[in-house]
Amino acid sequence: MGRKFFVGGNWKCNGNTEEVKKIVASLNAAQVPSQDVVEVVVSPPYVFLPLVKESLRSDFHIAAQNCWVKKGGAYTGEVSAEMLVDLNVPWVILGHSERRALLNESSEFVGDKVAYALSKGLKVIACIGETLEQREAGTTVDVVASQTKAIAEKISDWTNVVLAYEPVWAIGTGKVASPAQAQEVHVELRKWLKANVNADVAASTRIIYGGSVNGGNCKDLASQPDIDGFLVGGASLKPEFIDIIKSAE
Ligand code: G3P
Repeated sequence: MGRKFFVGGNWKCNGNTEEVKKIVASLNAAQVPSQDVVEVVVSPPYVFLPLVKESLRSDFHIAAQNCWVKKGGAYTGEVSAEMLVDLNVPWVILGHSERRALLNESSEFVGDKVAYALSKGLKVIACIGETLEQREAGTTVDVVASQTKAIAEKISDWTNVVLAYEPVWAIGTGKVASPAQAQEVHVELRKWLKANVNADVAASTRIIYGGSVNGGNCKDLASQPDIDGFLVGGASLKPEFIDIIKSAE
């Protein structure tokens, strides 16, 4: 089953109105493969979602970087899935390692968030990944399987889920996983999905890689059979993001 290549751009907590307008203008001017070849989703901070939504080219889509775990209410500072749907924001990133580490988001909490977001019609980029200590201890597969299990226990339909494997030790460090390292984990994740969900989900779910992806390493990573795309941080704010999108070809 063909899995459409997926390139996400996680802008994280970066930008101001002028910078966002420049990035959008740069993206709008770019020559990239058609939507039949690659799905592009950029994720600005919440406050810029309306601006990006109204100005971004129609063949690119937008994501929020998070959303709350249930219906809105007395949850100061949170943004609900319903609010994103109201803004016609189709995607949301959930479970990013920075939120797991800095805000103590547990795998169970992430699983609940994924289930709620899907239930409201959002499409989800669900992030998993091990720390350097966990990799050095040889527990990488156990860790990412456990994180994936916490999601699988809460959902039944994987149609609108993209799984993002982001080794924490590669995020923002310049220490990108080698194609072999990434491919190995993606294979194990696909095996886990086949054994614990079903063969169709395993075959059709896009598993994308994140962690120091750039214009120089994207082609080698993209050539791996089980790497279905990328979730890009720092490089998504730079012109080389277009090169990363083109690695879909
Ligand atoms: O969500 C993507 C991000 O964690 C990767 O960051 O800067 O290593 O590409 P970066």
